[in-house]
Amino acid sequence: MAFPTAWLDELYAKNEIVSVISSYVELKPKGRKLWACCPLHGEKTPSFSVSPDKQLFYCFGCHAGGTVVQFIMDMERLTYPEAIRYLADRVGMEMPHEVNDREMQLLRAHKNRLYEANKAAARFYFECFLDPERGKPGREYAQKRGLSKEIIQRFGIGYAPEGWDNLKNHLTAKGFTNKELLDAGLLVHNENKHTDYDAYRGRMIFPILGTNGQVLGFGARVLNNDKPKYINTGDTPIYNKRNNLYGLYLHKNEKLSDLVMVEGYMDVIGLYKTGVTNAVASLGTALTQQQARLLKRYVSTVYIAYDGDAAGQNATVRGLDILSAEGLEVRVITFPDNLDPDEYVQVYGKDGFDRLKENALSLNEFKVRSMANGVDLNDENARERFAVKACAFVAGLLPIEQERYYKIIAQMTGYSVEALEAQGARSGGIVLRDSESKFLRGGIRRRIDTMEDPRFLTERTLLAACVRDPSALRLAIREGADRLIQNEALSALLTEMQKDPAFSLTQYVGALEQKDAETVSALLQEENSMQNPERAAADCIRRLREAEGQQDIESLQKRLTDPGLTPEEKAELLKKITDQIKAKK
Ligand code: CTP
Ligand code: MN
Repeated sequence: MAFPTAWLDELYAKNEIVSVISSYVELKPKGRKLWACCPLHGEKTPSFSVSPDKQLFYCFGCHAGGTVVQFIMDMERLTYPEAIRYLADRVGMEMPHEVNDREMQLLRAHKNRLYEANKAAARFYFECFLDPERGKPGREYAQKRGLSKEIIQRFGIGYAPEGWDNLKNHLTAKGFTNKELLDAGLLVHNENKHTDYDAYRGRMIFPILGTNGQVLGFGARVLNNDKPKYINTGDTPIYNKRNNLYGLYLHKNEKLSDLVMVEGYMDVIGLYKTGVTNAVASLGTALTQQQARLLKRYVSTVYIAYDGDAAGQNATVRGLDILSAEGLEVRVITFPDNLDPDEYVQVYGKDGFDRLKENALSLNEFKVRSMANGVDLNDENARERFAVKACAFVAGLLPIEQERYYKIIAQMTGYSVEALEAQGARSGGIVLRDSESKFLRGGIRRRIDTMEDPRFLTERTLLAACVRDPSALRLAIREGADRLIQNEALSALLTEMQKDPAFSLTQYVGALEQKDAETVSALLQEENSMQNPERAAADCIRRLREAEGQQDIESLQKRLTDPGLTPEEKAELLKKITDQIKAKK
């Protein structure tokens, strides 16, 4: 998403990084930087630093880093454009494309009206629930489902009384137009009678809140066994169920170790009631990539806890790939006796749930086991077919994982591990789907991997010198340092600085992907130690050249071991190696 440079300049200038971050943590000056305990990960000694000169932050503990925009993305769990809007709102700036675009302004105003209408509707339903007369059926139902006053309040649960125009009259009196109420999904239009009427009647109301804290829509449940059980807000200008997770907004400012994914409203609420407060619901649909990305801003591990029935189990298999493809660690909780999470905790309580969680299956074990769903393992032919399929799957896993899964198949089928291994070897491993292989390659983000490589450290010091001092930059350009740098983020940074005389590090970092922004912000680590940037740059360039030379020598030495070499070729190689070694001295 490209924003005009001048507009971004103003945004960065008005959202001075120290003042923004100071509203989350107290920053204490030391050296050229300000320090605090990192608000992005739990810690007791401060390793979170902010550089007022460069308008960047960097945490030595969790390696998060970047501009004020990246800080807001991490802290408020927003996407890049969302964070930009957040900071623009903070200082009262209009979004650039909205300044002169009347259509955009109208759309935004309309959306705000829908948010307002939903908020007023949620209040209305909540008040109806409490109303001695009108709320009675709702309160009775709530009592039947064991929903306390605290839970009702926490989730904003309400009741829509019987009748065709209760909400309509209430909101019309508040100045909302029929169009607004229809667009929000609160009213439905009747073609034949040319009238609009309340969408929810005689139902419990579950407001759906977005992570922005706004009421996006509603789920409405019947009080008996009528069909449909739920009516939900469809697609509206402010809500699309694919982009949201029910219950996630409760965790906006919490640090969580994991989240539990369930199917329905009542699962989230039922778990919450017993003390399992970290469940969110996909609301009955298959998980989407947008939801997976949303989850990733909160946690790195997700427990799938779908209903024990077949529909739930099928949804689970589909969900797993989406989550793991986004790099989330996935574990699967399965419930006995077709119970759903809400029913399960009513019987076994939080302790029971925690035990299930401890014993949750890995993604692969779940997949192996679900291959046996509906298969009669007492039937020899069926058992064989299952084993062939499962072994083919296991053969495609990492070698060190395989033994564990062969053991599981052995235990399920009674075949020996040796026989199963032989079977797997014969199948050669089925081709993994892309999403699966990504997971197996360890898609979970490891920020520190590259950060410990000595070559990378040298490259980073060189760049830190260039950022710090124009004469170091000139030296690096003169010496052709861009050809020596292997890290892509750093090499791109040098190229950019070389190209643009008015280079702004803040703007540059602000436009980078998270991983690259962190790599570049890690330059802040080098600041203190550097007395003479130009000398440091020269030193780094020398070291990088040496390393390069060493790599050349090693590759020549490797070629020397080729048995097919002619004596002439061998002699030539030896000469090259000697030359290289001499050149180093
Ligand atoms: N759902 C729906 N429409 C239906 C049935 C289900 O939209 N007719 C969605 C709802 O979001 C529901 C979820 O699928 O929350 C899971 O369905 P189910 O397990 O049947 O509902 P619960 O949330 O468990 O509700 P309850 O315990 O009241 O039956
Ligand atoms: Mn249920």
